[in-house]
Amino acid sequence: MRVLVTGCAGFIGSHIAERMIDLGHEVVGVDCFVDYYPRALKENNLARLREEPQFSFRELDISVEPIESVCEGVDVIYHQAAQPGVRASWGEEFETYTRHNVLATQRLLEAVKARGLRKLIYASSSSIYGDAEAFPTSETALPTPISPYGTTKLAGEHLTYLYWRNYGVPTVALRYFTVYGPRQRPDMAFHRFIRAAINHRPIQIYGDGEQTRDFTFVSDAVDANVAAANLNIAGVALNIGGGSRVTVNYILQLLGEISGSELHINYVEAQKGDVRHTSADTSAAARLLGYTPVVDLPAGLRAEFDWFRKLDVRLQRAADGH
Ligand SMILES: NC(=O)c1ccc[n+]([C@@H]2O[C@H](COP(=O)([O-])OP(=O)(O)OC[C@H]3O[C@@H](n4cnc5c(N)ncnc54)[C@H](O)[C@@H]3O)[C@@H](O)[C@H]2O)c1
Repeated sequence: MRVLVTGCAGFIGSHIAERMIDLGHEVVGVDCFVDYYPRALKENNLARLREEPQFSFRELDISVEPIESVCEGVDVIYHQAAQPGVRASWGEEFETYTRHNVLATQRLLEAVKARGLRKLIYASSSSIYGDAEAFPTSETALPTPISPYGTTKLAGEHLTYLYWRNYGVPTVALRYFTVYGPRQRPDMAFHRFIRAAINHRPIQIYGDGEQTRDFTFVSDAVDANVAAANLNIAGVALNIGGGSRVTVNYILQLLGEISGSELHINYVEAQKGDVRHTSADTSAAARLLGYTPVVDLPAGLRAEFDWFRKLDVRLQRAADGH
């Protein structure tokens, strides 16, 4: 099988591409290295893939450049490319979000609508729920994002659905709930906490730390993608969570134990667009994909901690300031 991974140099995309290689597929990766975080980290994400004969890479911006040639002969697309991050999506930056999250998705769907694709899997987000009314939140909850980022991810998700309805493109949206693990983006909480803990610097917490999240280890998210590609389903959006909802303060306690050092924590004002709680009802994913998260938080957090500790110092420094 030939697969296309958009956003292949990113955190989740690089893990999906590696799994595809391990499964014996031919992988085409595309990424345009948006400057949301340093290119050096993304190049490092691609390091193993670049050694693989079954892997080819194209530096390409799918929101503006011709994309027909990378879609040629492709059976499955894992569409991970996006401008991530809730907090940066306000003001003038919104244009970047609409371009990479909405326009790029529409261009990709246009390019493949008549190609007889086996599956297109769209990386959606728990942020489409906003401050949900019920926990755990099921897919039947009315999406009401509270950040501009969430709005663009929801628009992208709607696009994948309407190309399925109108053109029969077999799309599945996976609503990831905070994914973590090795290569996590430097702006994300676990990565920031680990970086600060290792460097004995203060950890900044937005809010009182009693906000809760459903954290999903990256290999579980990859498992969900593999199942969604292989099974005969389309036109659905499914929650992909980690199976437990914990407070940020609990994570800090866990990190203190893993790092073996005392953490210095600064609580600052909560940020606009941040939701208070997330919790995934994954029963639909269990039923339709056979999805069960297998990596628990202590093991997953340790894996991310060990990854960061072993990261080249030059790359550790590159992550600073994000
Ligand atoms: N990490 C999470 O917890 C999380 C949660 C919910 C949803 N998601 C979604 O999962 C996907 C992957 O997220 P991530 O955390 O790996 O982010 P990431 O920033 O590490 O990866 C995204 C990659 O897409 C690339 N990209 C962006 N626009 C592009 C374009 N127009 N053309 C080509 N490449 C482009 C970027 O350069 C980047 O390398 C995103 O769609 C994100 O919205 C992530």
